[in-house]
Amino acid sequence: MTHAIQIHAHGGPDVMRWEDVPVPDPGPGEARIRQRAIGVNFIDVYQRTGLYPLSLPAVLGNEAAGVVEAVGPGVTVVAVGDRVAYAGLVGAYAEERTVPAGRLVKLPDGIGDDVAAAIMLKGMTAEYLLRRTYRVSPGETIVFHAAAGGVGQIACRWAKALGATVIGTVGSDAKVEVARQHGCDHVVVTGPDLAARVRELTGGVGADVVYDAVGKDTWEASLDCLRPRGMLVSFGNASGPVPAFQPFVLMMKGSLFLTRPSLAHYVAKRDELAASASAVFDAIRSGAVRVDIRHRYALADAARAHADLEARRTTGPIVLTV
Ligand SMILES: NC(=O)c1ccc[n+]([C@@H]2O[C@H](COP(=O)([O-])OP(=O)(O)OC[C@H]3O[C@@H](n4cnc5c(N)ncnc54)[C@H](OP(=O)(O)O)[C@@H]3O)[C@@H](O)[C@H]2O)c1
Repeated sequence: MTHAIQIHAHGGPDVMRWEDVPVPDPGPGEARIRQRAIGVNFIDVYQRTGLYPLSLPAVLGNEAAGVVEAVGPGVTVVAVGDRVAYAGLVGAYAEERTVPAGRLVKLPDGIGDDVAAAIMLKGMTAEYLLRRTYRVSPGETIVFHAAAGGVGQIACRWAKALGATVIGTVGSDAKVEVARQHGCDHVVVTGPDLAARVRELTGGVGADVVYDAVGKDTWEASLDCLRPRGMLVSFGNASGPVPAFQPFVLMMKGSLFLTRPSLAHYVAKRDELAASASAVFDAIRSGAVRVDIRHRYALADAARAHADLEARRTTGPIVLTV
């Protein structure tokens, strides 16, 4: 048995319980990990509330770093004693767990457990958004919403390193300076004049691409921020799901492109996972991306981390310590 944060019903942070759960011995293709640091992501909130339903009871969480304690038959990608991390495997809020070994990435020297737990999911998200969903090129202008957030800080720094002009948006004045320190050339506080501000900053042209994981509250403005044939990458819904809409709108607003990607589909194959993780580690080692962990909570206190994340009180990654 191990300690974990489990839910028996969807709801607010109060449904999160600190409980004992079984840890199965690793079967064929599996590895058991002693976890050392766990990342908190907004998807954990969607899964807790039921916006993305889980089969219950469920241990929350999607990413962590730790040490391999045991491996099942046929496992060759990792060995006992390896330092590893993963992203996108529900059940991460636990001291120990058993996972498919093929989803683990070995951690190189110089990448600590906290950093790995903070960047596996967020960093690989930034990687695929900026390099594969829309390939950001030098001289282009991007808009990134929630620029002071977990994915936002990493992506804005990375986009800057790729040579883009980065317009970040934040929800309050208090986050403006944080976003500026993380790669934004311009920071706009979200409000009714958001699209007009972006047009002004782009000399009336509009942005090449908008990355929007705020969802409902920024949807209209995101479409209005783009140049003709620009791309809206809608990759989350922190303020709620985007409303139903007609594809015709894309034509009216300038023959725009729209995609709604998920990390899972960009790291589904083992070689994609390895390449994405390795690009993230390289970006950290080269200094293109810096991981600034300002929020740490004990695993048992994960409900407080959720409350702070949802209330928009956090900036950058959040890590649970084991
Ligand atoms: N599709 C994918 O592959 C993928 C992968 C990873 C993450 N995501 C998405 O990326 C987004 C960022 O994830 P994260 O874990 O790094 O979270 P985060 O950015 O640290 O936190 C979410 C931020 O969204 C902003 N926000 C705007 N309206 C909000 C509202 N009504 N309630 C709460 N927050 C609101 C807040 O920033 P301000 O206060 O500055 O507005 C808040 O800090 C999430 O939407 C997540 O679902 C998608």
